[in-house]
Amino acid sequence: MFHDPDFQPFEPRAEPSLRAYVRNYLENFPPEAYREGVAGFKRLNRPETLFLTDPDLIEEVLTTRAEFFPRDRITPQALSNVVDPQGLFLAKGAHWRWQRRAAAPAFRHENLLALTPIFFDCAERQAQSWRRAGTARIDVAQAMMGVAFDVILRAVIGDAEAVDRDRFLAAETDAFSGFSWQFLLAALGLPKFVPHPGFLKMHLATRYLRRETARLIAARGGADKGGDILSLLIKARDPETGRAMNDRELLANLFTFISAGHETAATALAWTLWLVAKDQATQERLRAEIREVAGDGPIGRDEIEGLVFTRRVLQESMRLFSPVGAISRQPRDATILGGRPVEKGAQVVIAIWALHRNEKLWPDPLGFDPERFAPDAAKARHRYAYLPFGGGPRICIGMSFAMLEMTTVLATLVRACVFKTVEGFKPDLQPNISNRPRRGLPLIVSPA
Ligand code: HEM
Repeated sequence: MFHDPDFQPFEPRAEPSLRAYVRNYLENFPPEAYREGVAGFKRLNRPETLFLTDPDLIEEVLTTRAEFFPRDRITPQALSNVVDPQGLFLAKGAHWRWQRRAAAPAFRHENLLALTPIFFDCAERQAQSWRRAGTARIDVAQAMMGVAFDVILRAVIGDAEAVDRDRFLAAETDAFSGFSWQFLLAALGLPKFVPHPGFLKMHLATRYLRRETARLIAARGGADKGGDILSLLIKARDPETGRAMNDRELLANLFTFISAGHETAATALAWTLWLVAKDQATQERLRAEIREVAGDGPIGRDEIEGLVFTRRVLQESMRLFSPVGAISRQPRDATILGGRPVEKGAQVVIAIWALHRNEKLWPDPLGFDPERFAPDAAKARHRYAYLPFGGGPRICIGMSFAMLEMTTVLATLVRACVFKTVEGFKPDLQPNISNRPRRGLPLIVSPA
């Protein structure tokens, strides 16, 4: 078990604050959410907000009564600039169901295994460029955004050169930065066009991102290029009705996969490199496993299977620094949850950040220990105690993609380079869509 004071980057607030909504909404998860299973507050005349960290209740909301607890009203408004409302992420009811069925084969494990050479190649390019630079101070948060972006473009449309990467990523940062304000507006019942700091920048960036994504599809001309995800989506048919996606739906989903598909994985990889820079013993154990499994050769489908400890490190990293801090639902009507009345319109927050640090579920919750994910330890836990990818019918469709990608990238980078912390650097969180570090994550990187 490895400890470091930086593993708790902020103190939960006893009282929620509007400022925290914009700066770091995780601060507003009440302290009881880390100790108990349900906590709530009611502000002025707004419907109550309920924070769940009880795995049984979370299972009830996400799975057993998923139909009764659809996605909340706030998240779609907060995400509407960066996630197309017509795509899988925000679609509802039958429109969601058929898209999910149609897209599922593209994310099946066997199809994804064909993408492992892309994961390795993107990571190896980064590793070799760091090795050539010798010892240097690197912002691994920015670097991982670049690697994960190359991965997603190649996996989804088969070409990483098709867009101006730096411009696209900068536009994405601008578009995402409005998330917290939009979240606050929605929480206060205000419409999305109320101006706020960064409003114009956010809209211009969103327009650029949508235009570029449309250009990517048009440039492909609907051609089936083989194994990439766009080809699979173009060929996809709803198994029940035979319906295919029209251009509008293809665009919506491509936009979703590109943004949802790299931001979260990049954030998880960056925190993982920072954690293993803190915990050098774990870093050495990782490197030893990778050398034993893959030697100096490529890391592909067979090697990934053998990288058992690497996977555990990623899992434990996503426990302590979950890339997504919360997901929300809303009951269709007044109801009872865990013996407690819940009003219609209440915001039911599955507080993933607090769930993963809850004292009742995780012994020594602030310690970093990949062995929590050894099979026996994992089996002894409630399945809904650990939800980096959500749960129930709307569980992340990209989960296997992300796990294969992150395992390959982490293994490739740690085999090639040694990561050490920068003296005096304290991380700060800037959660918008994912829990990004506010001023990046600088590390000292040198050839291994
Ligand atoms: C470490 C990486 C990732 C994390 C932590 C993550 C996390 C999540 C979570 C928590 C949800 C559930 C949202 C909810 O229930 O409200 C979700 C849904 C989703 N994710 Fe991911 N995700 C990751 C990677 C990806 C990738 C690689 C893709 C696609 C290429 C992707 C596409 C989606 C989509 C389309 C949904 C909506 C699914 C639906 O509603 O049916 N994600 N993700």
